[in-house]
Amino acid sequence: MPEFHIERFLELSGAVQFDDLDLDLCRKIGITDAEERILRYMGDTETHTVLYMRDLLAGHSAADEEIITFLSVWVYEELHHGRALAKLLAAAGRAGTPDHYTQVTRGASFRETIDAVLGHLAASLTPRFIAVHMAWGAINELTAAAAYQAVERRTGNPVLSKLLNRIMRQERKHFSFYYQQAHKRLEGEPRTQALVSFALRNMWRVVGTGVSGEENLAFIAAVHFGDEEGRRPLREAEQKIQGLPGLEWFDLLSKAVAKLAEDYTRAHPEEVAKARSELGRWSSDTRSLEAILRDDDEAPQNEPGFIPEASSASVTANQPASLA
Ligand SMILES: [Fe+2]
Ligand SMILES: [Fe+2]
Repeated sequence: MPEFHIERFLELSGAVQFDDLDLDLCRKIGITDAEERILRYMGDTETHTVLYMRDLLAGHSAADEEIITFLSVWVYEELHHGRALAKLLAAAGRAGTPDHYTQVTRGASFRETIDAVLGHLAASLTPRFIAVHMAWGAINELTAAAAYQAVERRTGNPVLSKLLNRIMRQERKHFSFYYQQAHKRLEGEPRTQALVSFALRNMWRVVGTGVSGEENLAFIAAVHFGDEEGRRPLREAEQKIQGLPGLEWFDLLSKAVAKLAEDYTRAHPEEVAKARSELGRWSSDTRSLEAILRDDDEAPQNEPGFIPEASSASVTANQPASLA
């Protein structure tokens, strides 16, 4: 397992680069209704990361210097993911309402509150609970990366593609932290392994549902992860999680998303068909999620050719072909 160096992480950390993006081009090309809905969901989840951090700080994790150092930077980077997505939406002519943040916070579900209370209680009882939060965090980061990858590969807007690629790089670093922390706390600890498995089987839900709404999540699932090929990045993510001691069984992510996609498509067949027909064509960037996660941390974010060729080409193909 590769080491995670917190000092290196701090050196490379910061708000995702946004100011150099070609917003005129973004506005000219625009984005689809489905992209707007998906980006709004992702952005809302990102800007509410501090609510998740409140849970993460519960109990014994607050006494761990490395965790506190990481979380301080993590929440800043996640907030800027949300802000960058909001700015891009505005640039594409789809600005949110001024009180959007407050509305979303008010709508955070009752179950989110219940989960937070239960999580706080459990986290105070045993230091082993830190492993639950770390494994959970690793799953969330990979899920976010897979969702961004799905949009990035299919959008007809190269500016959006570029921003999502940058965000994914930061999600990769976040995943590395959580994974390494979970691994070291699970290795050789059968009781911790049992606790983490129990918590995931009974409490885990796909990231963002409490804050941004299950209906929106189900829409993303139906549009981007509605078939076996679409769910490949999710299975890859599961395989990585299965590398954690005691979590060899983990298959909740693809099952949960498949169920959401199936139910939503059955209830809204025309809406899903329309959204899928508006997706950009697949880019030539056929790297697996695994390959993207392996990318060099220090690769320049704006080097020529950073955007996959087909994404650049699709600037002129403003009417994207339907999914192959
Ligand atoms: Fe993020
Ligand atoms: Fe992240």
